[in-house]
Amino acid sequence: MPSVITQPVAARLTHAAIFLVVTLKPNTQCNEPVRALCGDLASLLRAIGFRNPDRRLSCVMGVGSVAWDRLFGRPRPADLHPFREIKGEHHAVSTPGDILFHIRATHMDLCFELATQIMSRIGDVVTTVDEVHGFKYFDERDLLGFVDGTENPVDQDALDATIIGDEDPTFAGGSYVIVQKYLHDLKAWNAVPVEQQEGIIGRKKLSDIELDDAAKPAYAHNVLTTIEESGEQLEIVRDNMPFGEVGKGEFGTFFIGYARSPARIEQMLVNMFVGRPPGNYDRLLDFSKAVTGTLFFVPSATFLANVPA
Ligand code: HEM
Repeated sequence: MPSVITQPVAARLTHAAIFLVVTLKPNTQCNEPVRALCGDLASLLRAIGFRNPDRRLSCVMGVGSVAWDRLFGRPRPADLHPFREIKGEHHAVSTPGDILFHIRATHMDLCFELATQIMSRIGDVVTTVDEVHGFKYFDERDLLGFVDGTENPVDQDALDATIIGDEDPTFAGGSYVIVQKYLHDLKAWNAVPVEQQEGIIGRKKLSDIELDDAAKPAYAHNVLTTIEESGEQLEIVRDNMPFGEVGKGEFGTFFIGYARSPARIEQMLVNMFVGRPPGNYDRLLDFSKAVTGTLFFVPSATFLANVPA
């Protein structure tokens, strides 16, 4: 198989990100600028990123199920489908989104410039349905006060968890990504005693040390999101970011999870929203409401570079 360059799904976590979700306007002429952008994205990134390489600008472009057919037709990635809502103890909603841009850098200036340049090319043919500017809160914490990202796989393990291989040879080098925007009821959360919060997450709040298995409630977040197949743990790569608007009283976590198959992220979501076993759901959801939910396929960088305009 000729070598394929992947998009930077497993890039090192950064302190700034823009999550931009857009839908394509109905007219089919709207496809052309987006197809042209696919081919130009790498050079755009080089031009902006090179102005300050230490700031590690990267961008992942994902494409939703309906938009895939419209933009690229056949063949289709084997597991690409619209995000399926989950109704259990809590509701994981499914919301529209044709294209995702996950833009990361150590500083917001580069993210902002790349998002601006992308929209200067496709702004007339898309509608922005969600734009979140994320930041890292003190020592890699979310707004609930817990360190978020500790158990992410790194290096080769991160690639093994996220990059499609022989299971879908036509799309080898690609990946899947699910995003969900969560809004927190911080007043209610902050009224929960820290020890109880630690049980909900499954880790110590200050030190970030994992609780002993015997001390973890069955509903702990890190119990319900640990899944196995044939005795092997199935991992995903997350790069959650806090965001918010203080004046509006809005405090949130933008969840983003990459995996070589959407099924493993979906299984984690079922465990969280329905419960494992049903009813034993993730108590984090009593304080955090999912207001969006969208699934995208992340083609390889080689695929994007070869899209004819
Ligand atoms: C672990 C927060 C949503 C999957 C964690 C940890 C925190 C956290 C604090 C422990 C530290 C770490 O290992 O990163 C949150 C928040 C969420 C959220 C605030 C949204 C409100 C999700 C969702 C999924 C998920 C939707 C998957 C569908 C995981 C996984 C782990 C984890 C796989 C690592 C478990 C382990 O191996 O110990 N999360 N999370 N999280 N989370 Fe979440």
